[in-house]
Amino acid sequence: MTSAKHQPLPTSPMQSELIAGLSRDRKHLPSKYFYDARGAALFERICELPEYYPTRTEIAILRAHLPTLSAQLGPQRWLVEPGSGSGLKTRLLLEALDQPAGYVPIDISAAQLHSYAQELRADFPQLNVRPLSADFTADLRLPPGVERPVIWFPGSTLGNFSRPDAQAFLRRLSRWGGGAGELLLGVDLIKPVEVLEAAYNDPAGVTASFNLNLLRHLNREAGCDFDLSQFRHQALWNPEIGAIQMFLISQREQQVQVAGQSVRLARDEAICTEYSHKYTTDQVAQMGQAAGWSLRAVYTDPKRWFGVFHLECV
Ligand code: TRP
Repeated sequence: MTSAKHQPLPTSPMQSELIAGLSRDRKHLPSKYFYDARGAALFERICELPEYYPTRTEIAILRAHLPTLSAQLGPQRWLVEPGSGSGLKTRLLLEALDQPAGYVPIDISAAQLHSYAQELRADFPQLNVRPLSADFTADLRLPPGVERPVIWFPGSTLGNFSRPDAQAFLRRLSRWGGGAGELLLGVDLIKPVEVLEAAYNDPAGVTASFNLNLLRHLNREAGCDFDLSQFRHQALWNPEIGAIQMFLISQREQQVQVAGQSVRLARDEAICTEYSHKYTTDQVAQMGQAAGWSLRAVYTDPKRWFGVFHLECV
């Protein structure tokens, strides 16, 4: 019989996931843990950095082209957003739509979703807000009566999926409207490496704080003991996969405890924390086509740094 003190500590699914990612040859931590309250606030600051062009560029594209886009969509459409609200962008879109039938924000966190729904109802008293608490990457059913959805997926969040996962996700989205509906997809475009790397390596160090905050979150929520001062942020363009990759680099040889298990890190060893894939407009059109969507229009900025793609279910 084993005595209690020799039994391993109970391991949560989150902890097993971390141990698996840190046991690989190329270490990895899941990016979904970026967004605790502090992470969300840091991300808002990233969006305001001069180097982080995607948010600002996407907003400029919307401001320039929303009247055209809204006319293309026509009246009484349902706006469906996987993720609970992209702030200003979603508000601009809702204001531009011609008598929208309603708005369905979808988020796994019911608490966040409901406070967001309340805010929107206050700002748009006429709008029928129907929040849906669900994992939008799994198969899902829209509320009854939501027909011909206009699915809104901005912020180049698609780029945080691997290329095959991005295509699989677009395929899932194509089923939401039962074969009908449209997709408005904001995607960051391929551009000179210096511009891409600068966007994820700001001199003020906000992106570094955001990346390191992942370790702080894991220390608190998963019983880890990462020493934040022993890691440094790095973002690099990986031309093989067409993505910016974010890393935390171990500053020395060290041992980290994860749920009672010890993980060894070599000096300069990298832990990958995030991918941000970039696309050409042709790649988006092709991937959309392969996933059941045909391209109606691409709206872009004068430098062609970012694209808002209007796709239609085929
Ligand atoms: N989808 C955005 C992007 O890839 C948001 C994002 C995810 C991000 N992780 C990030 C932005 C890390 C800055 C740093 O750009």
